[in-house]
Amino acid sequence: MMMKFLNILFLGAILLVSCKPQDASVTKIQKPIVISTWDSGVEVNDAAWKVLAQNGRAIDAVEAGARYIENTRNCCVGTQGNPDRDGHVTLDACIMDDRYNCGSVAFVESVKYPSSLARLVMDSTPHVFLVGEGAKLFARQMHQEMTNTELSPEAQKEYNKWLEKSTYKPVPNIENSESKSSMESVPGKLQNGEFNHDTMGVLALDDEGNLSGVCTTSGMAFKMHGRVGDSPIIGAGLYVDNEVGAATSSGVGEEVIRISGSHTVVEYMRHGFTPEEACKKTVERIVNINPEKAKSLQVGFIAINKKGEIGGFSILPKFTYSVSIDSTKAQVYTAKSWFN
Ligand code: GLY
Repeated sequence: MMMKFLNILFLGAILLVSCKPQDASVTKIQKPIVISTWDSGVEVNDAAWKVLAQNGRAIDAVEAGARYIENTRNCCVGTQGNPDRDGHVTLDACIMDDRYNCGSVAFVESVKYPSSLARLVMDSTPHVFLVGEGAKLFARQMHQEMTNTELSPEAQKEYNKWLEKSTYKPVPNIENSESKSSMESVPGKLQNGEFNHDTMGVLALDDEGNLSGVCTTSGMAFKMHGRVGDSPIIGAGLYVDNEVGAATSSGVGEEVIRISGSHTVVEYMRHGFTPEEACKKTVERIVNINPEKAKSLQVGFIAINKKGEIGGFSILPKFTYSVSIDSTKAQVYTAKSWFN
C-alpha cells in the first residue's frame, strides 16, 4: 500500500515537472533581425532584409545593406561622400562573418562598393587588410565597379563652403588639444551644423542564428589626406563573435580606435551585459579618458547578441539606429546618451 502511494507521488512529481511553464528568462530568439546605425539605416535594412527573408546568410544581408547606401548621395558613405581637405574622397570599410573571417580596405579612392571590396579581401586573398593604391589595384583585378574622382555636386558645394573658412594646418594629433587650429583641421560639425560623420554600420542575425557585420564610410569630412578612422579596423569600427554578439560604431573614429571600441562592446556582452549596457560601458571608457573633451565628441555604438537582443548608446544625444524584424519599415530608435 505504502509502495503504491509512493509511486503515485513520484508520478505526480514527474507530471508537475513536465507541466512546469518555461522559465520566463528563456525568451524566444529574435531572428532574423538587422540593425543599422542612424535613421539612414531604414533603407539599408530594407536591402538587407530582402536577403534575410529568403533564409539568406547574415554576411550577404549586411553586404547588401552596405551596397545600398554606398550607391546613394549622402555626406558620409561611398564615392559621393564629402572629401578630405585636399578634395579627395577616400573610403574605408570592413566586414566580418560568423567564423572570424574578416576583410578590410582603407584609404581607397574611386571604388563604388568598398564593402564588397572588403568582402573580396576576406574571401579571395590570404590577407585581412588592403589600403590605398594596392586596394584599388585589387578592385580592378576583381572587376569591381569604379567611378571617376570628380566630387558629386553636393560634395563640391560642401567642400567650397569649407574652403572659405578653413586653412590647411596639419595637426597630427588632436588629443587633449583645445587650440582653434586643431579643431579647424578636424571639424566636429559640417557647415550645416550636422555632425560630419554618419558612418554606416550594419549587424544581422540570420535564420540559422549566425551573426555578421559591416562598417563603411568616407570618413570624417575634410580630414587630413591619408587619415583612416575606426571604420575599417576590425575590433574598432566592427567586431563579430558568433559565440557572443556583434557591435559597430559611428562617430569620431580616433576615440573609438584608442579603446578598440566594438571589440570592447562584445567583451562586455560576453561577461553578461545586455547590448545597451555593453554600449554604455564602452562609451564610459571613452568619456573617462577626458570628460571635458568628451562633451564635444560624438561616438555611438550599436550591438546585438545571440538572442537577437539589441541596443545602442552614445556620448551625445541624437544618435539613432534602425531595427528590422520583418519586411515592414524599420523602427528607428534614439539611443540613450552619456550627456543630455
Ligand atoms: N567613424 C568614422 C570615422 O571616424 O572615420
